[in-house]
Amino acid sequence: MWPYPRILSHRGGGTLAPENTVAGLRRAMDHGFRAVEFDVMLARDGVPVVMHDPYLGRTVSGAGHVFDYDAAELAGMDAGSSFGADYRGEPVPLFVEFAQYCKAHGIWMNIEIKPARGFDVETGETVARLARAMFADELAAGALARAPLLSSFSLAALTAAQRVAPDLPRACLMSELPPGWEPLARSVGAIAIHTNHKHLTPELAQAVRDAGFGLFCYTVNEPQRAMQLLAWGVEAFCTDRIDLIGPDFGS
Ligand code: G3P
Ligand code: MG
Repeated sequence: MWPYPRILSHRGGGTLAPENTVAGLRRAMDHGFRAVEFDVMLARDGVPVVMHDPYLGRTVSGAGHVFDYDAAELAGMDAGSSFGADYRGEPVPLFVEFAQYCKAHGIWMNIEIKPARGFDVETGETVARLARAMFADELAAGALARAPLLSSFSLAALTAAQRVAPDLPRACLMSELPPGWEPLARSVGAIAIHTNHKHLTPELAQAVRDAGFGLFCYTVNEPQRAMQLLAWGVEAFCTDRIDLIGPDFGS
C-alpha cells in the first residue's frame, strides 16, 4: 500500500536547516535521507516556488504575500537568515529547480500542494503538470514508486491535479479524519491518507489500512511516539528531527 520510503525529512531539512531550501536538502542528505516532504505555492506570475507560508516575514525576509511577487523576485530573497547567519542569502527555491535537484540526487519527493487562499485549482494544475512532465519516463515505464506523491489539504487542488495528471499518485491531507473521510479520499483518487499523528488512534489506523489506503503521519519528532505509530500500522511519516529519527528508523 505504501511503495515509498518510510521516513521523510519534513520541509526539506526538518528543523536542522532553513525550511524548504536546498540547504535543507543537503542537510537531509548529510543525515542519510533520500526522501523529503516540501511545500509548493504559486508566485504572482503563476510560477511555483517552494514555501510553506503564503506571506513573507517568518522564514523569508520581507513583507507581503507570496502572490505579491513574481517567482524571480522571490528567488532573490533571503530564506536563510531567519534560521541563522550562516545561511544568509539562501534563496527561495523555484519548484522546478528544487524538484530537479531532488531527482538528480535520488531524493524521493512528497510534494505538498499548498495553495494560497483562492488559488487552489491553479496551484494544483500547475504543480501536477510540471511534476508529471518531469517524471513522464518513469510513469510510462510503470515505475510509480520513483515518481513523486502529490498531497494537499485542498480537495480542489487535488481534483485539479487529478484532471491534468491522472497517473501521478495523490494523497489526501487531513489533520483529523472527518466522518466520510473514505469517500472524500476516493473522490480525488487518493492512494494514501496523510494525517496528523496527534489525532490518530489504532482503530482509525486500522480502518485506513482496511480501506486499502496508504497511511502517512506528520510530523513525528519523538522516537518513542514514532515506534508506537509504526506498531499501529502507520506506514510512513515525516520528521523535523532528522538527527533523532534517521531514514532507517524502526527497521
Ligand atoms: O505534508 C505534511 C505536513 O507538512 C503538513 O503540514 O503545515 O507542515 O505543511 P505543514
Ligand atoms: Mg507540508
